Amino acid sequence: MKNFNHLIDLNDFGKPQWDEIISLGEKIMDNPHIYEASCRGKIMGTLFYEPSTRTQMSFQSAMLRLGGGIIGFDNPTASSVMKGESLKDTTKIVSSYSDIMVMRHPVAGSVKAAALTADCPIINAGDGGHLHPTQTLTDMLTLHKEKGRLTGLRIGICGDLKYGRTVHSLVKALSCYEGNSFVFISADELQMPDYITAPLEKWSKSDSIDEAIGGLDVLYMTRIQKERFPSGEEYERQASRYILDPGKLKKAGEDLIVLHPLPRLHEIDAAVDSDPRALYFKQAHYGMYVRMALILIMLNYDITPPVLLKGETHGGAKCKNDNCILQNEPHLPQSFIKNDGVITCEYCESRFAL
Ligand code: CP
Repeated sequence: MKNFNHLIDLNDFGKPQWDEIISLGEKIMDNPHIYEASCRGKIMGTLFYEPSTRTQMSFQSAMLRLGGGIIGFDNPTASSVMKGESLKDTTKIVSSYSDIMVMRHPVAGSVKAAALTADCPIINAGDGGHLHPTQTLTDMLTLHKEKGRLTGLRIGICGDLKYGRTVHSLVKALSCYEGNSFVFISADELQMPDYITAPLEKWSKSDSIDEAIGGLDVLYMTRIQKERFPSGEEYERQASRYILDPGKLKKAGEDLIVLHPLPRLHEIDAAVDSDPRALYFKQAHYGMYVRMALILIMLNYDITPPVLLKGETHGGAKCKNDNCILQNEPHLPQSFIKNDGVITCEYCESRFAL
């Protein structure tokens, strides 16, 4: 296994590096012309096995604005994936054509699996309902730019907290900064997974935007992830449960900011868009600068590569998550971390009793 400085989980980088990426993103935003030839001669491969607008195009425009080139697909059915090529083989080949690769895939743990055999650094652009670290860097740059700090924030996160990978990465990262607290606003069925809440110190649950909004610095809305629901009926039951509209915003403070990773469906009424506290379009724009910074740092800085697998097989244990990459790619080493009789899959982070 070659040891590249992949970004699978934001925790693969230390907090000083997150701050460095955010700071460089802000510098690039202020003076983009200084960086316009920084990646001349470099190629970024973008493999999007799942639809994307912002992540894919902001990465592509980031590399083009840095003077580099791009290859890849946004529709795997137009590639040899359609002929049944495995994830391992496709990513091995494209990584050998690229200096850096960005990958989105519907299965949790797939980007880590690809990183095990890739020939260049890989960035996780979303793996199933698991993680989306570059959205989190986008969110952090937005918070830093718009609130002036990443500490001491009371953050409400509303909607689909079970399947919404962006909020998993966000909570993991913001809990590393002092004084942040979280209010998870959701139906019980769509609450945060245990592996996210277990390490948190300051958090609470609410089932009502109206009740929670008054005390918040940030309201982070999310879409109900239709594509990850087991049934259409269950999705319909949840789809219109939490909607932010101008009436609800009246109960919020003047310095609240409203974020959303987008795309949105019905969860934010379009009438909210003209409120100065609605910053989600700005947030998506900031994503391009933070990705420029990330590409530059990953290509040019000496970063300690993450150890991808630290666990053991634990006597033939199997991951019980149906949407884990371990179910799809039989060649992968089965690797789990054991702690207090609970084992955690090293690909999708599902936890279960041994
Ligand atoms: N926020 C986000 O990941 O958007 P896309 O799915 O359009 O990339």
